Amino acid sequence: MTTTISRRAGGVISYSYDDFPVPAGRLDLRGDNSPPLPATTVLLEHPRLRPPELAGYGTVAGEPALRAAMAQLFAMTADSVVITAGASEALFLALTCVADHGQRVHLPRPAFPGYEQLAHITGLRPIPYAVPGALPLPGPGEPLLVCTPHNPTGVLIAPQPRRSAGWTIWDLSHMPPIGDSPADFGRGLGSHDITVFSLSKALRLPGARVGCLVSRDRDLTAAVIATKTHLSMSTSRLAQDLAARVLRHPGALEDVANRTRAYAGHRARMLDAVATSTCLQAWPALDGTHVFVRPTDGRDGWRILADAGVVGLPGVVFNGTSDAVRLCIAQPPDVVDRAVRIVGAL
Ligand SMILES: Cc1ncc(COP(=O)(O)O)c(C=O)c1O
Repeated sequence: MTTTISRRAGGVISYSYDDFPVPAGRLDLRGDNSPPLPATTVLLEHPRLRPPELAGYGTVAGEPALRAAMAQLFAMTADSVVITAGASEALFLALTCVADHGQRVHLPRPAFPGYEQLAHITGLRPIPYAVPGALPLPGPGEPLLVCTPHNPTGVLIAPQPRRSAGWTIWDLSHMPPIGDSPADFGRGLGSHDITVFSLSKALRLPGARVGCLVSRDRDLTAAVIATKTHLSMSTSRLAQDLAARVLRHPGALEDVANRTRAYAGHRARMLDAVATSTCLQAWPALDGTHVFVRPTDGRDGWRILADAGVVGLPGVVFNGTSDAVRLCIAQPPDVVDRAVRIVGAL
């Protein structure tokens, strides 16, 4: 009997940071290198759950306290929220529940690489649209996925009136959970909209693997919960308890606000440096922790920056043009200072 790997699994493309090593003496701007939020340190050092809670699965939809906290963030009801193992599982569930094998799904390019790979795994046909640019008008029943703040460009895309008869999946993983933005966003969403969110980014908890999917459509949330029963089942109760306590912690949200302000400064300085350089241009970043840069003359931007001492992630990782490079500005101020000086002098 012949054993083969399925085409879907065999065709999965995955990169790790190790594919783009940082030689000694160069600056690492590949990803978020910031420490956990200071106010959460005590919570992270003392995860707590009573033994009976760990001796049982939790509910598939998520722990009530965390569903309520997520619901409050997006001005929705707790039964609209399904807690997931990061935004990655939420995206997988969303794509699985909104389209069938062979159907078209409209995805941004460049973009978080998971979109195209998850579409491939779930048997959907990705139809790319450019960011920045006008959102496409999908055909009947074709889902559209939108990421804002957008990884890797930092571009913002406002909620839009319904554009087609299909679902729209909004990936808000890089939106800081502070101020009015998440609730305003939630209030603007209709029953055809699905929100995906993550605690990995602004709350700096990628290791907790907590995210959520939010939808006003009861049939959709029921389908998501049924599907999730055969995936992660319940998300780690330890992580959910931690996440609920972090979200309730006023100091943690103050830390997020401080970091968001600091990163706005880092972003502005990096964009200025790119504008000062004689050979680089940047996408118009307004939020998030990334700046996406390319040379004006079609040369390999990743190589130019890496040779000059600043290592980011190349555009191909994001299905973008191979001359582009993503720089993450969530770094200590001295690293940003040094990177800005190098970029500005190019
Ligand atoms: C835009 C976007 N969506 C989703 C994810 C997945 O996040 P998580 O760590 O919560 O699975 C990422 C991770 O980098 C991301 O950048």
